Amino acid sequence: MVSHGAATAATRTAGLLVLVVIRSVVAGKYNTGAEPVTGKLNVHFVAHSHDDVGWLKTVDQYYEASVRDILTTVTTELEANSDRIYNQVETAFFARWWREQSEDKKARVKKLIADGQLDFINGGWCMHDEAATHYLDMIDQTTFGHLYLKRELGVIPKHGWQIDPFGHSAVQAYLLGAELGFESMYAARIDYQEKKVRHADKTLEMIWRASDTLGSTADIFYGVFPVHYSPPDTFDLEPRDQDYFPVQDDESIEGYNVDERVDELVQAATTQAALTRTEHIMWTMGNDFTYQNAVTWFENMDKLIHYANLDGRVNVFYSNPSKYLEAKMAANQSWPMKTGDFFPYADSALTFWTGYFTSRAALKGYVRKLSGFLQAAKQLEFCVGRSATHSTDLLQDAMATVQHHDGAEAVVNSALGCLSSGADCKSNSRDATIKQCPFLNITYCAASEAPLHAQKLVVVAYNPLAWARTEYVRLVVTHTRLAVLDSSGKEIVSQIIPVTVVERKVRSFYVEAELGIKTSDRDLYWLVFEASVPPLGYTSYVVQPSEEGAAEISKPEILELEKSGLKPKAVKAGGENMNLLFSSESGRLLEMVHLKTKTSTFVRQSNMYYVADAGEDGQASGAYIFRPADDTPRPMTKSAEVPRTTFFRGAVVDEVHQIISPWFSQVGPVPVDGEGGKEVIARFDTSIKSERNVFTDSNGRDFIKRVRNHRDDWNLEVTQPVAGNYYPINLGLYITDGAKDFSLLVDRAVGGASIKDGSLEIMLHRSLVNDDGRGVGEALNERVCVGQTCEGLTVKGKYYISVMLKENASEWRRSFGQRVYSPLQLAFTEQLGNRSTFSALTGNFSLPANVALLTLQELEGGDVLLRLGHLYQAGEHAKHSKAASVDLKNMFKDRKIVTATELNLSGNQLKSVLKKNSWRVQDGISTSSMVARGSTFDANTMIVELGPMEIRTFQLAF
Ligand SMILES: *[C@@H]1O[C@H](CO)[C@@H](O)[C@H](O)[C@H]1NC(C)=O
Ligand SMILES: *[C@@H]1O[C@H](CO)[C@@H](O)[C@H](O)[C@H]1NC(C)=O
Ligand SMILES: *[C@@H]1O[C@H](CO)[C@@H](O)[C@H](O)[C@H]1NC(C)=O
Ligand SMILES: *[C@@H]1O[C@H](CO)[C@@H](O)[C@H](O)[C@H]1NC(C)=O
Ligand SMILES: [Zn+2]
Repeated sequence: MVSHGAATAATRTAGLLVLVVIRSVVAGKYNTGAEPVTGKLNVHFVAHSHDDVGWLKTVDQYYEASVRDILTTVTTELEANSDRIYNQVETAFFARWWREQSEDKKARVKKLIADGQLDFINGGWCMHDEAATHYLDMIDQTTFGHLYLKRELGVIPKHGWQIDPFGHSAVQAYLLGAELGFESMYAARIDYQEKKVRHADKTLEMIWRASDTLGSTADIFYGVFPVHYSPPDTFDLEPRDQDYFPVQDDESIEGYNVDERVDELVQAATTQAALTRTEHIMWTMGNDFTYQNAVTWFENMDKLIHYANLDGRVNVFYSNPSKYLEAKMAANQSWPMKTGDFFPYADSALTFWTGYFTSRAALKGYVRKLSGFLQAAKQLEFCVGRSATHSTDLLQDAMATVQHHDGAEAVVNSALGCLSSGADCKSNSRDATIKQCPFLNITYCAASEAPLHAQKLVVVAYNPLAWARTEYVRLVVTHTRLAVLDSSGKEIVSQIIPVTVVERKVRSFYVEAELGIKTSDRDLYWLVFEASVPPLGYTSYVVQPSEEGAAEISKPEILELEKSGLKPKAVKAGGENMNLLFSSESGRLLEMVHLKTKTSTFVRQSNMYYVADAGEDGQASGAYIFRPADDTPRPMTKSAEVPRTTFFRGAVVDEVHQIISPWFSQVGPVPVDGEGGKEVIARFDTSIKSERNVFTDSNGRDFIKRVRNHRDDWNLEVTQPVAGNYYPINLGLYITDGAKDFSLLVDRAVGGASIKDGSLEIMLHRSLVNDDGRGVGEALNERVCVGQTCEGLTVKGKYYISVMLKENASEWRRSFGQRVYSPLQLAFTEQLGNRSTFSALTGNFSLPANVALLTLQELEGGDVLLRLGHLYQAGEHAKHSKAASVDLKNMFKDRKIVTATELNLSGNQLKSVLKKNSWRVQDGISTSSMVARGSTFDANTMIVELGPMEIRTFQLAF
């Protein structure tokens, strides 16, 4: 029996019940060794600290300020009691700490790992966001962390821990979950309405079938925490926190509270159990940057475990996701099935976290640019061999932690220099006369602007795709009398387009702001020509002075607006593929015609903005939250005004430039005076009968159908008709009537929506004057200064639109989408190398049209990581959704693969050893599915088969 007011332990001795009352316990004498038991409520203490890899401070600042102490005190406290378990998440921090440790400490930490006390979950370099991230970046940063853990510690994480992202993506669950080899994943933030429903139905834990193509073969157990990733109220054990209530078990001093704490624990556990299936619940024992002094956490948890188990109403113990999942599986429960994803995320009726899909648009553009660049740099590293002094690891770290880092440009420059010299790159010192132009976006490139007298300009265009490609290249030049020669020395057609006044203005301000250089105001032109580049290779072009002025100069053709009341005429732009018709009356885009398929669609483009809610009721639109003051976006211009429209026509391209309002041509600076914050959008109203549907990508991979004002998993109460219909876009979005699609592809992460039938919009830029109270503590009002002159940030970006028949549209989104993600990388030099064109692939080798080369990367130690990805979903395209095969043996020129081994997605284990748990799902849901995966890889034939949406990862030894 248990007497009230004292913790007891009972022992039976010779038929006599001896009651041992423990009133005070010496530290270290707590009984903390409990294991799960059946017939009782089991409380799994999962000790963790949520350490953001760069948020308000940089990763190094956080490390210095707290994470070093967290890891040091945690490991010491684990050694003090072998029952204690701690779950380590972010590898960027662990790696910084590990390299500071002595050999002796490292050996002791390895023992903690071997004994199961220090566990690693998630294990990516950081815990990435799931909305504004591209799947290749997610794979890369996870691989970077996982390979580090494997190499340094022999550790392979088995469970996902995405506890802070604001909404959860399908690609995270199936690709970065099941395909990675994770057995379960955990999250905290889902829509408040959905959470309520899941509380009531006990459906917080589920089997998530996140890929409609891979079906049950990519199912994963997914647990959503009942409240948040912190412990239940009053159990936060960080002394800095207001509600720190330590367990005080010494009766001789003030504040003895053992019984009270045990009662509270039992109470909180019982409440949580009512929302959870099985008799196992998880307590997430940790919070943001907690365990700065791990002593308080572990001592209090020791006491809680000890006294609660003495009390006996519940059973408490140190645990981790592995033990927790094992218990869930043993229970032979049936689980609800989840499909689709968890976007958008709202934490209350007015607060949809759909603003951050677009916030900091320049940074988002930079991240995407860096990402495409990193893929290219890794490939070039494969071509010439890793260098000890500058490898892509630096860039990988920068990329994963989203820091600015330019050092790895050297990797690309030296590799291209070396390849073009035709030298043996392994032994030669690296050539560094090659330069890049990262500021072409602000119309600036020192290399191509240099006066061309005697010397010529050599442009090396590198193609990171494993398909040949033909594409327009644009360079800033200061001459008009130029000729462009291809790699065989033959002159090709080129065109000169004057740089507009708007572009010049951005250039002069931003070149000075970013580079501290005052640019001259001389003549400036775009030189445009078409480059043809082999797969995984480059072509060099020579730009040289030419007496005849061979490049054609496009004369601006300013649209003459007809005010005469005559019928508006259409003005045509475009070549043999696509015509755009603009109204000669209003200057607006009217119609898009896809010539080959004769698809013509009424498309009206409007550039508008939502007025941001200033938050008079306490909730403003801010960095995270999108809250328009009302549902009607304002046009940029009064209806009487017409955009100034200029056409530049030429042999290579037709360009249409529009100045829509004084502040909108490129977007920004967005004025925030007057009406206050503005959320700038581009909207397209079309004649397509899309009804309430729009398709948006999941992290740039699968397209998911969204229905306006509807959620598949519960009856949505619509509180925000605009913000609540925004979704994250990384590749693009489209609307369809079943026969033809209107598609839009993006060059960076943005938010997008279809607010009306036939309409599609993306949010381009946000300038706000209020904070939304979600932690950043300031308004999203980015400013750029030159000296004392500051203005709101201007962002220049690209988006691509098309109207095509359904099948053609799907092909365009997939293949053109690869081009957008992996742009040609341009480098400049003065001397044409011995090798003016190059491909790392065998003569006529090109990947099938439905397969992309996702990764080609030399690992430390010389082996090579290769990833191939099928680009189509099941049923997406009649031809391309079929399985494809790739013959690795014949892929690489001059290099023979000796062995090829298939690995899991992050490359830290053999594919063949991945464990697949099978789960019972609730009645009515079919668990059998016909999934066409590629057959098991045969290391002898080296032929890789890929079913739709499959990504396969190989380690190659040459
Ligand atoms: C699990 O439950 C199902 C349905 O109740 C039952 O058919 C099956 O035998 C159970 N399996 C085990 C191992 O208990
Ligand atoms: C490249 O060409 C230059 C002169 O054109 C020559 O000196 C050099 O040896 C060549 N390099 C190789 C590796 O062929
Ligand atoms: C241009 O690109 C640079 C480097 O990628 C980026 O930092 C900057 O924000 C971009 N500028 C504009 C105006 O978009
Ligand atoms: C459009 O798709 C059809 C069916 O896949 C194909 O036959 C045709 O060549 C495509 N047309 C264009 C212009 O791509
Ligand atoms: Zn966080």
